[in-house]
Amino acid sequence: MNNFNRRDFLKTGAALAGLSGAGLAGALLPASMAQAQSTAGKIRVGLMLPYTGTYTPLGVAITNGFKLAVQERGGKLGGREVEYFVVDDESNPAKAPENTNKLIQRDKVDVLVGTVHSGVALGMAKIVREAGVIWINPNAGADEVTGALCAPNIFRTSFSNWQNTYALGKVVKQRGHKTAVFITHKYAAGDQMMASFKDAFEKEGGKVVKELYLPFPQVEFQALLTEIASIKPDAVAAFFSGGAAVKFIKDYQAAGLKGKIPLFGPGFLTDGVLEEVGDAADGMETTLHYADGLDTKKDNAFRLAYVKAYKLQPDVFAVQGYDAGQLLAAGLDTVKGDINNKAALIKAMEAAKIDSPRGVWTLSKAHNPVQDIYLRKVVGKQNKVMGVASKALADPAHGCKA
Ligand code: PHB
Repeated sequence: MNNFNRRDFLKTGAALAGLSGAGLAGALLPASMAQAQSTAGKIRVGLMLPYTGTYTPLGVAITNGFKLAVQERGGKLGGREVEYFVVDDESNPAKAPENTNKLIQRDKVDVLVGTVHSGVALGMAKIVREAGVIWINPNAGADEVTGALCAPNIFRTSFSNWQNTYALGKVVKQRGHKTAVFITHKYAAGDQMMASFKDAFEKEGGKVVKELYLPFPQVEFQALLTEIASIKPDAVAAFFSGGAAVKFIKDYQAAGLKGKIPLFGPGFLTDGVLEEVGDAADGMETTLHYADGLDTKKDNAFRLAYVKAYKLQPDVFAVQGYDAGQLLAAGLDTVKGDINNKAALIKAMEAAKIDSPRGVWTLSKAHNPVQDIYLRKVVGKQNKVMGVASKALADPAHGCKA
């Protein structure tokens, strides 16, 4: 908390006094002036996201969305300009502590925005809790982040892994399917999405007859698709995302399974991939906290602005990044840019009502969005909204004592 304060204080103090040896002059400044200096500089935002590997498109969309929210506010949050510090985390959990420390210790960021991969997020959580820096998680769904590891300085603008597949389990059963196979990468996000799908599907009387996994980020699906063909379940549910989702959807069709065994998923499977998969995703039903065709004033304006800025269609990941910017703006506006007034900043962020392209959402006590989960269907190049699968769905936040 004091890193920015002290460093900036010393630097500005030395410049004011015409001294080059930092560390002397700051102590001579009166307290009121020191306070003014601490709110005058730029807000240091650390972006810790994947810019290489299968989740690269997600990292890019989140970055674009965040920067758009800042641009819409004239490049300032709470009256202060924003300076970015960027680390490519490669979706590599083993490097998470080192990468987190780079931003916190070396770059002395005021706010950490990251990441995509649940395993990386779990590697960040302990460090961030201890450092006390404000962390806004714009994707990674690891349930623990707003569960057992929840903390006053930890916020998420996306979803918990539990949320979308819990809604999906009910949908698949409602379609009359009694047996399902779940297939995913073997890591925290895959495990947790599988678990909540199974919980909901089996509560409704369905049966998950097989769980199929492959190591992240492998995409050799052939043997597993052959296994699905021999099991012949009523339905398949899959969680893959980014480059892996593109390949899975294409391979599912190439294996002759499309049209035989309906393929479902949390909407991560089909968001941001439809330009690349041709007709292989046609008709697929998914559940997600965003959709195409919402046709609200906010979503239409966001889509227009995003396309204008980036010459790309936005997806759920862009929305989550945009909302990370909106949440931070709501907090910093209230404290007039004084990032060191952490208690008031956190209180303002907790109370924020985010006017999101996905629809208005608020934060749960554990700092996870309480939000509608839409039912969508792939029609052409769109994840078309068909209705609401689960209204104002709140994560159960198991183990959060905040
Ligand atoms: C995750 O690892 O939490 C994750 C990654 C990609 C997604 C969703 C969740 O699309």
